[in-house]
Amino acid sequence: MICFIKPLGRFGETTGKFRSERRGLHLLVAVLVILSGMARAVDKSNFKKCDQSGFCKRNRRIQPGSSPYAADLDSARLENGVLHLNVLNTQTGILLKLELYALQNQMVRMKINEVSPLKPRYEVPDVLVAEPEVASWQLGEKSESVLEGSHGNAMSFVLTAQPFRLDILYDGQLVTRVNSRGLMNFEHLRTKKNVDPPQDENEEEKKEEEGEEQEEEVADDSEIEDEKADGMWEETFKTHHDSKPNGPSAVAMDFTFPGYEHLYGIPEHADTLALKTTKSDEPYRLYNLDVFEYDLDSRMALYGSVPLMLAHNSDRTVGLFWLNAAETWIDITSNTADKSMFGRMMDYVKGDQEVPEMNTHWISESGIIDVFFLMGPKPYDIFSQYASLTGLPYMPPMFALGYHQCRWNYNDEEDVKTVDEKFDEHDIPYDVIWLDIEHTNGKRYMTWDKHKFPNPIEMQNNIASKGRKMVTIVDPHIKQDNGYHLYKEAKDQDYFIRNKDNNEFQGWCWPGSSSYPDFTREDVRAWWASKMSPELYEGSTHNLFTWNDMNEPSVFNGPEVTMHKDAKHAGGWEHRDVHNIYGFYVHRATAEGQIARTDGRERPFVLSRAFFAGSQRYGAIWTGDNAAEWSHLKASLPMCLSISIAGIPFIGADVGGFFKNPDTELLTRWYQAGAYQPFFRAHAHLDTKRREPWLYPEENTAVIRTAIRNRYALLPYWYTLFYQASQTGVPPMRPMWVEFPEDSKTFAMEDQYMIGSSLLVRPITDAGATSVSVYLPGQNTTSMVRHTVVKEETRWYRMDTFDKMTGPTQVSLSVSLTTVPVFQRGGSILPTKERVRRCSSLGAGDPYTLKIALDAQGSAVGQLYTDDGHTYNFQKGQYIYRQFEFKDNKLISKNLAPVSEYNSKSWLERVVIIGLSESPNHVSLISQGGNTQSLEFGYSVQRVLSIRKPAINIAEDFEISLT
Ligand code: GLC
Repeated sequence: MICFIKPLGRFGETTGKFRSERRGLHLLVAVLVILSGMARAVDKSNFKKCDQSGFCKRNRRIQPGSSPYAADLDSARLENGVLHLNVLNTQTGILLKLELYALQNQMVRMKINEVSPLKPRYEVPDVLVAEPEVASWQLGEKSESVLEGSHGNAMSFVLTAQPFRLDILYDGQLVTRVNSRGLMNFEHLRTKKNVDPPQDENEEEKKEEEGEEQEEEVADDSEIEDEKADGMWEETFKTHHDSKPNGPSAVAMDFTFPGYEHLYGIPEHADTLALKTTKSDEPYRLYNLDVFEYDLDSRMALYGSVPLMLAHNSDRTVGLFWLNAAETWIDITSNTADKSMFGRMMDYVKGDQEVPEMNTHWISESGIIDVFFLMGPKPYDIFSQYASLTGLPYMPPMFALGYHQCRWNYNDEEDVKTVDEKFDEHDIPYDVIWLDIEHTNGKRYMTWDKHKFPNPIEMQNNIASKGRKMVTIVDPHIKQDNGYHLYKEAKDQDYFIRNKDNNEFQGWCWPGSSSYPDFTREDVRAWWASKMSPELYEGSTHNLFTWNDMNEPSVFNGPEVTMHKDAKHAGGWEHRDVHNIYGFYVHRATAEGQIARTDGRERPFVLSRAFFAGSQRYGAIWTGDNAAEWSHLKASLPMCLSISIAGIPFIGADVGGFFKNPDTELLTRWYQAGAYQPFFRAHAHLDTKRREPWLYPEENTAVIRTAIRNRYALLPYWYTLFYQASQTGVPPMRPMWVEFPEDSKTFAMEDQYMIGSSLLVRPITDAGATSVSVYLPGQNTTSMVRHTVVKEETRWYRMDTFDKMTGPTQVSLSVSLTTVPVFQRGGSILPTKERVRRCSSLGAGDPYTLKIALDAQGSAVGQLYTDDGHTYNFQKGQYIYRQFEFKDNKLISKNLAPVSEYNSKSWLERVVIIGLSESPNHVSLISQGGNTQSLEFGYSVQRVLSIRKPAINIAEDFEISLT
């Protein structure tokens, strides 16, 4: 038997060889498997640091101080409520135009562009769901040096002319200062200085004939040297040359958040949730990259980018959204955190502590300055403000919230069948089985390896007959092969991105030499989308969903493993301008194709690795190629949280770790943690040992089984939260401070978090843990029942033991392998389904159990959303949305849906009331028609009342009273 080996990694810069060639020999397999188990780290030299990136270096060199920019207040005019004025660069004489908008929904937008650029500068399309609605400014006092304006009583600004500075206020409080440190820089487009004298007189004449103006200035040698050193007109990184035909075009601005010590967001980084200061480090970088074996605790760029930052203190949360799709670097400094110990001591001695503030410096390679200030004031407000700009998260089908079984690769149809059957044999639910790149005919996506997968439709139908689904990988690099239909069609229709010389861009990826469709084009996306139909994607069915990988895009032999920045897209835009949005477009085209294949009936499911602001509209994201290490399990929490609060709630990390082999304990703990992350998928590298849950000692299989089953029991809650996210933008997975915004103890917390407002999870992420410390917040929380900030003790109940704890408190719990510290917040009602099924669709008609955890007043509230689980009929009112409220010993279910036309088979099987101080004598149910009946119940020493079989349909109004 010949065994094929796939690469452990990517293209190695040092060897200069692409290693995806198939190589034989068992011996090598053994060596590679051993190697894959050894600790390795990213080769950082393959990726730029700020000072290896011309525009970053040029901008980072600018020191705080007096800015050369001056606002011309005489040019200020209000047009349809929008303030327009000119800003002059007093050093270069270049004139910029500034537009300042007050927006509906408590936001301010500021745009800055050149008044007359040599050619248009890129303005990111397709991310904003609509042109934001403008609310008019009223201009106030204007003096020679200051202009003021306000919108109502809430938002106002003070614009200082020289140097240009903008202060944005809310309720009279300074929220953000713009250019107060003088780091603004707008590199205007220019013609290249005449470096070399014209070689050929004829060419000069020809240019003149063609009407090209001879604007080139003659530069002296030192100027040219400076420009070269600064990478203004060309740049080389390793062996890669960037021709920079448009020269320097960076934009930069500083924003200060006075009164704040905590910033969040700007994913994706393998870093802490609360952002660090970068004074003595690299800035945070946003540049979608396929980083092989990424480092933790790092500001390096990863697969996706969302240029949204949140600032939070106990009074307020504000946001800043920098709408730019080019490579971006962000420096963060702080007047307090960056102070030396001595400096802090001196402040203390002198008694003059400064008001803390966070300074940020944003630098993008091209485009314009287009920035939104989101005023909050509370975290929930920020989510809805941001969603009003970039879109609400899509409502996933129910199966997508179940458990996904993936590995690189399930080898053939037999393998798929066996794995599927083993889940049933071991009584472990799962919803989706995934096929990685090896299922294709030579990495030609949307084709099948005819030997391994001769009957793909039958295979999918078998899986579907059990209520389950399949996913295949479809990457955006297209093998250059005229016999491959996708390549041929795209080539014939000129759909591919071009290189700087205007030829088809060619890069190496899994299939070898590949081309990349220009997904920024609507016609290309429509073509791609049409390929999702079973007629055009041969061997696919409506039960097949999609995984878009490598869409940063990954180019193994490109600079930093991606595309050359001088490659050309439609409209003459350079790849430089659109880089960070490419993956978003791939994701979008695929999702739109899936919707179209059922004429808009069914909801799509597409997982993408690359992302940008707005990707929440198209599907799920995962954190890419992590490793089977405890540190990576731990890092999955802040990584998911940070993506989640940047508007993309459907996020998860590869359970088990992609590279390397997890030991049994790590795998088990990872399942327990993954079961409480929004996207729950196990995945593993080709060279790792098989690790399906039954391949471990029975004790561990049992723990994994329980973890997955617990996920399924909570599906009604997850589904409700995703529905609410799709209406409000508030993500299901939330940092502690989102729910306890006034409790400063929670601000840097990332080892525990909330799912919705009802559950607190503290996953165990340390080897051999025998205890964990959990913080249960308490004071000044927003009452879930009364929706106001109240000062009352907060109760928490352990989900596994019903033990009651009172916050605020730091508790230390003894843990065993079976323990997953999850707490239900007093005052909440959780909808669950407790019957064990093979997958989510088989439990669709199952009855519900309501888990009611009482607050100090003996009250609780919660919601349940449900629908058919997969179509868009919910948009026509076919859903059930109910509120359950327990107060004064009565549980009342009331309808929240304006029209409820959906009939559910599900009924109420059990009501569990946790924290009830004494047993009632009698429990009765009053149903919609007024009928009253007695219900059976039991009361336990743990103060838990269990009411059996109310047996009322979940869609009906009812009341259960305890007397
Ligand atoms: C990339 C993906 C990984 C996938 C592999 C092969 O490394 O991140 O999940 O298994 O490519 O397709």
